Parts: sequence; C-alpha cells; structure tokens
Amino acid sequence: MKTPSLSLPNDIRRGSLACVGLGMTLGSHLTPLARSHIAQADVIFAGLSDGIVEMWLERMHPDVRSLQPYYQEGKSRMKTYRQWVDLMMTEVRAGKRVCGVFYGHPGIFAWSPHKAIEVARAEGFEAHMEPGISAEDCLYADLGIDPGRFGCQHFEASQLLFYERRIDPAGYLVLWQVGLVGDRSLARLQTGPAYRQVLVDLLSRDYPLDHEVIIYRGATLPIEKPRIRRIPLCDLPLVQLAVEETVVVPPAEALKPNLAIQERLEALDKADALE
Ligand SMILES: C[S@@+](CC[C@H](N)C(=O)[O-])C[C@H]1O[C@@H](n2cnc3c(N)ncnc32)[C@H](O)[C@@H]1O
Repeated sequence: MKTPSLSLPNDIRRGSLACVGLGMTLGSHLTPLARSHIAQADVIFAGLSDGIVEMWLERMHPDVRSLQPYYQEGKSRMKTYRQWVDLMMTEVRAGKRVCGVFYGHPGIFAWSPHKAIEVARAEGFEAHMEPGISAEDCLYADLGIDPGRFGCQHFEASQLLFYERRIDPAGYLVLWQVGLVGDRSLARLQTGPAYRQVLVDLLSRDYPLDHEVIIYRGATLPIEKPRIRRIPLCDLPLVQLAVEETVVVPPAEALKPNLAIQERLEALDKADALE
C-alpha cells in the first residue's frame, strides 16, 4: 500500500518564523546571519530600542511593522507581549516568512520571541532564534568585567523583590529593569525612588550601604559613548534612572575557600596517585 504523502503541494508555502537580534549599537552589531533572515523575510516585526534604529531597519526591508505602539501606560506589558506573539503568528499561519527583529539578543529578558517560537513549533512551523549582542555583552566589554572571575548572578530587579532569592555577594550581581523595580501591575513605564529604596533595603542585607554600585547604559547609536555612573548603594533612590539602564553590584566579599570539598579532592588526588 502506498504511504500517503505528508508533503504540501508546491503552491502552498508554509510560513516560518525567525526571531533575530539587532545587537545594541545601530549598524555595528548586526550579524550576517541576522541580516540574511531580515532580507529573506516577507514581513518584519520590530521591537527596537528607539525610532532611529527603526528607521534604519526600514531601509533594509519594505515591510517593517513596529511593535512599539502596543506599549501603553496603564496596559499590562504581558497583554502587549501576547499581542506581539499573535501579530507574528497570524502572518506565519498565513504562509509568510516572518522575521521578528528585537534589539540586543532576542532571547534575553524578552518574553515574546521565546513564546512565538514555542507556539510556531507546536503548530508545526519552522522557527529559529538567531542570537544578538545583548546589553550583557556590552556591559562586560565596557566595564571590564569577566563573569568567570568571581561568578555573576543576573536578576530581573522586581523578581528579586517578589521572591526569596539567594544573593552571593562574593560575585557580581547584575540587576535588569531597575527603572521598573517593584511594579506589580506590569502596567507602569517607570517606578520611582520609594520603590528603589525597597531594593536598597533588600540589598543592604548583603552589602554595606556605602558599597559602590555601577549604573550602566550601553551605546545604542554609533556616535554615543557608554554612560557609566558609580554611586554608593544608598544613593540609588536619589539619582535619575532610565528604564534602559542596568545596575551592576560588584563583589563585596572575598571568595571563601570550601575546605571540606578541597580536602575531599585532595584525597581523590592521593588515591589517583597510588593507582
Ligand atoms: C526588556 S530588557 C531587553 C534586553 C535586551 N533583549 C538585551 O539583549 O540586552 C530591557 C532591559 O535591558 C537593559 N538594557 C536595555 N538597553 C540597555 C542599554 N543601552 N544599556 C544597558 N542596559 C540596557 C536594561 O536593564 C533594561 O531594563
């Protein structure tokens, strides 16, 4: 008996989805692979950091649809992110090659690209994520930090407040979205000094109040330089802090040797040497 063919007729083109990162700095961070996904797409959805970057993308493709207008003060960001998934998937289901272009890395602190890829794959469409240079990558370069030296924890700042987490003050701590810290509604575009004071109070369990923290903003335009401010932890509520800034807390303690484990390893080394 002939096995029924699962392949589609030639005249039906299956939709597909690629979520790519544009990197942080306009023009200089775009990888050849991300560029090729953009060039080959039928339609582009853009979740970018500013209007200038969006205009630059428009020069690369005739059908760029901005995702920015879906953000609104008072509207839950989760509702916006679900809309982004629906917008992309509607075109995928219509048989289009869809490319979602997001600033930085499309999978770092970005819900919609992960979700859209999950949904597309579950429905049998081809879906791919293409990495990009993230704020994290720029931060290591601009601040001269190697995460391998003392270790490095990353937290979404609000999550650090909402849940019991264990901070290791012997390593670096990177806090994302501090400009929105403590926003339980997911509907605010910024929170203020009182919310940052709650964060400082929490951090003061592990760090002295005069411990130096770094407020970092990587360059998004080639003419810009990174903005790096070093302030004592206690001043965090007092300064202006934009939503696109990231806070880095350097180590406050020396690494403590784990003597029990070191002894165990020594015993293993000795046993190996006797074999
Ligand atoms: C929704 S996340 C997006 C991150 C992005 N996908 C990436 O790969 O970097 C937004 C957060 O990223 C960080 N961020 C965004 N732009 C930045 C910049 N220019 N410099 C430093 N951090 C930035 C901030 O912590 C901000 O709150």
